[in-house]
Amino acid sequence: MTATKFHSFSELVQDRTESEPTVQLPEAPPVAPKLETQNLSFYYGTNQVLYDVSMKIAPKSVTALIGPSGCGKSTFLRTLNRMNDLIEGTHHTGTVLLENIDLNAPEIDVVALRKRIGMVFQKSTPFPKSIFDNVAFGPKISGLRNKKILAEIVEYSLKQSALWDEVKDRLNDSALALSGGQQQRLCVARTLATQPDVVLMDEPASALDPASTSRIEDLIFELKKDYTIVIVTHNMQQAARISDQTAFFYEGHLIEMGPTQELFTKPREKQTENYITGRFG
Ligand SMILES: Nc1ncnc2c1ncn2[C@@H]1O[C@H](COP(=O)(O)OP(=O)(O)OP(=O)(O)O)[C@@H](O)[C@H]1O
Ligand SMILES: [Mg+2]
Repeated sequence: MTATKFHSFSELVQDRTESEPTVQLPEAPPVAPKLETQNLSFYYGTNQVLYDVSMKIAPKSVTALIGPSGCGKSTFLRTLNRMNDLIEGTHHTGTVLLENIDLNAPEIDVVALRKRIGMVFQKSTPFPKSIFDNVAFGPKISGLRNKKILAEIVEYSLKQSALWDEVKDRLNDSALALSGGQQQRLCVARTLATQPDVVLMDEPASALDPASTSRIEDLIFELKKDYTIVIVTHNMQQAARISDQTAFFYEGHLIEMGPTQELFTKPREKQTENYITGRFG
């Protein structure tokens, strides 16, 4: 037999897989997606930056969005809770669904939506207020005045964001006196206090030292028991450590999405392989 020449990595992988004995597992019952985009395209003015992105995000899972700078990760993330509405001159085509409800339907209350789908940004942005007031901010804005319930929400949110033990004796101190890593966890607590069921995170650990990064990663792992998490990260090791699914974007296209381990070890697409092996980006 003549030596076979492989034209692509995926052919190579396929061939190898076929030659290995496989055990057929019964198919898992389908889980209704928490979030779904269907043929989502997005434009800043006339500049199209997302192209026909269709994605399903399972409940209580961590989905990592990866890809080179400028490929549309943050834009895509913001379409999931309509944060792009705040940017003048933008529009989209296609659909974004939260549990099958069209997020962009005219009857949707955007403020309520952003409580259900909270967001944590790259740079923590605590308000110049006490630790307590930072976390109580959302519930207070929603009209909650009962001090006992507010205190319970603050404690619960700080415990969930793994910050309680470090701050419980100084809840009235300024949030700005916290370290960068603590401030980032405070922002997670502030988001959780509005009782979301989805948490979007845009590079939440990129400005943190390794110890704080590792705390955020542990936190994300804990949070997925209760929340659906979508996280943008530039750090592929991080994506591999914390996510169940990974989506690779390139120039506004969703090139490939799948179980994280599979995407990193057996990418189907050449562009994904090039990216994860560090050939660009
Ligand atoms: N507010 C904006 N106005 C106009 N164009 C924008 C705006 N924000 C992003 N863009 C453009 O949209 C494209 C996608 O940007 P986006 O910020 O979503 O990429 P990204 O993948 O998050 O990049 P990075 O990894 O650098 O954060 C880029 O070409 C960018 O220049
Ligand atoms: Mg970004």
